[in-house]
Amino acid sequence: MKIGIVGSGNVASHLVRALKNAGYPIAGICSRRLSHAEKLLNEIGDFEQATIATESIEDLFPADVLILAVNDDSILEVAQVLSKIDPGSCVIHTSGSTALSLLSEHFPNCGVLYPLQTFSKDRRVKFSSVPFFIEASNKKTLDLISSIAYNISERVVEMNSEQRRRMHLAAVFACNFVNHCYVLAEQEMIKCGLDFELLLPLIDETTSKVHRLSPQQAQTGPAIRNDKRIINLHKALLGQPEQEIYQLFSDNIQRYKL
Ligand SMILES: NC(=O)c1ccc[n+]([C@@H]2O[C@H](COP(=O)([O-])OP(=O)(O)OC[C@H]3O[C@@H](n4cnc5c(N)ncnc54)[C@H](OP(=O)(O)O)[C@@H]3O)[C@@H](O)[C@H]2O)c1
Repeated sequence: MKIGIVGSGNVASHLVRALKNAGYPIAGICSRRLSHAEKLLNEIGDFEQATIATESIEDLFPADVLILAVNDDSILEVAQVLSKIDPGSCVIHTSGSTALSLLSEHFPNCGVLYPLQTFSKDRRVKFSSVPFFIEASNKKTLDLISSIAYNISERVVEMNSEQRRRMHLAAVFACNFVNHCYVLAEQEMIKCGLDFELLLPLIDETTSKVHRLSPQQAQTGPAIRNDKRIINLHKALLGQPEQEIYQLFSDNIQRYKL
């Protein structure tokens, strides 16, 4: 079974490596900018079969399965192009919040292979422990996606589009917004000439605590104690919109106080 990859970004670059390591022949990597597809192909290297880099999706055929690891706003556009080339293709996207129906309107055999992890191109991830959430338009395609997922990961769960969207929203809070808080924290450290690294033991313990305590039980700090004097001192150090963010967070922490 040959797999064609559309996209050469964060997810595509990890996925193509994992699929290759699992022994799947890769028909090619297609990216909007040819140089990006070529760069990824060169970085991975050592493909057993002839694998191409291209900017035209047609060149990926005769792939049996096409994985669209493109930004969410491009999935529909790529699906529309693909449906004109071969509506019989098995097409899979990797998005958390894009419904399966976006593909099933175009392809009878389609599905979702959503990895719940944060991928950055230059940071290696242990794929076997990344949970994959899968969905498909029919049993045959579900079995196919399930076998691909189990060949690259130990954790595979079937989930519908609605649940997946809600889980992705939770992931935005748990990962993207938390990371943005690190950005804000780093700015405050820089203002007084301190290194962000000093915060790492605190960050590590905060993350590790929620393996044992519920997030509500684990909360500490001026907001949960309702220490108004400290809250006002902190707010006085901030400009806008950070002062507003601080107040919104503090109010929201109070709302969830046990
Ligand atoms: N990053 C994560 O942590 C993560 C985790 C789980 C799921 N996802 C999902 O995985 C998908 C990809 O995310 P990402 O973070 O990998 O995005 P990304 O790094 O921004 O990469 C997007 C890729 O899509 C390509 N692309 C866009 N339009 C295209 C088109 N018309 N034809 C061919 N290629 C096209 C871009 O090509 P060029 O580079 O050539 O412009 C780029 O390589 C999204 O659905 C996202 O929700 C992401």
